[in-house]
Amino acid sequence: MSLDLAVIGGTGLYRFPGLENIEKRAIDTPFGAPSADIVLGDFRGKRVAFLARHGENHTIAPHRVNYRANLWALHELGAQRVIGINAVGGIRVDMGPRVIAVPDQIVDYTHGRFTSFCDVEGVEVKHIDFSEPYSLSLRQALVLAASNADISVVPDGVYGATQGPRLETRAEIARMRIDGCDLVGMTGMPEAALARELELDYACVALVANWAAGCGDQTEVSLPEIYANLEAVTAQVPSLIAALLA
Ligand code: HPA
Repeated sequence: MSLDLAVIGGTGLYRFPGLENIEKRAIDTPFGAPSADIVLGDFRGKRVAFLARHGENHTIAPHRVNYRANLWALHELGAQRVIGINAVGGIRVDMGPRVIAVPDQIVDYTHGRFTSFCDVEGVEVKHIDFSEPYSLSLRQALVLAASNADISVVPDGVYGATQGPRLETRAEIARMRIDGCDLVGMTGMPEAALARELELDYACVALVANWAAGCGDQTEVSLPEIYANLEAVTAQVPSLIAALLA
């Protein structure tokens, strides 16, 4: 079976609106079970797989997501192109709430996660090139799709991946800004690196839910506001994916 696209939904995206003729697959992998059943279906005449990264009821925290099982299962189902949808906080001045960005770089601050498929003895160790952590062709296709669908996106940005599940302190964000981070999220890594190990084309669609601590007009991060912003910005995702598949 061939798949045109796999989508990993983040906070606020637990099912993919418009997916038809749905079939759910419970996949087992050498690394355990993925976050949820993988939902296969037709979207605008194309075969799409959808996986809820945090589980269908958001019960899996960012540091507990089985990123290896998720990527392995999508790969096993025949995915070649994978888009990770990630809720983030905005750091750069043009990355305010409700902005959509397609980042081009990553700084990884996570720890204690399984970051590689190469940690079984006897398995050949792959030192992947990660200078460009996302697929350039998929990023370009996303930016073009956004323009075709009249959706405004910021076509770059450095994604700082933090451990979570707590949000950051102002000092942490100030340090991340000095490090060159434009966005902050908890789930961008090791997902991108694992996708590269499997030689998948992987890109991130970052949905800005709030100003990161100490940025913009942020005084404190209000959760109801985060969810309202996320709902508004997530509503544009199906049109963006439809334009990508057109
Ligand atoms: N920090 C980290 N992850 C996030 C944030 C944030 O401010 N907002 C949404 N995901």
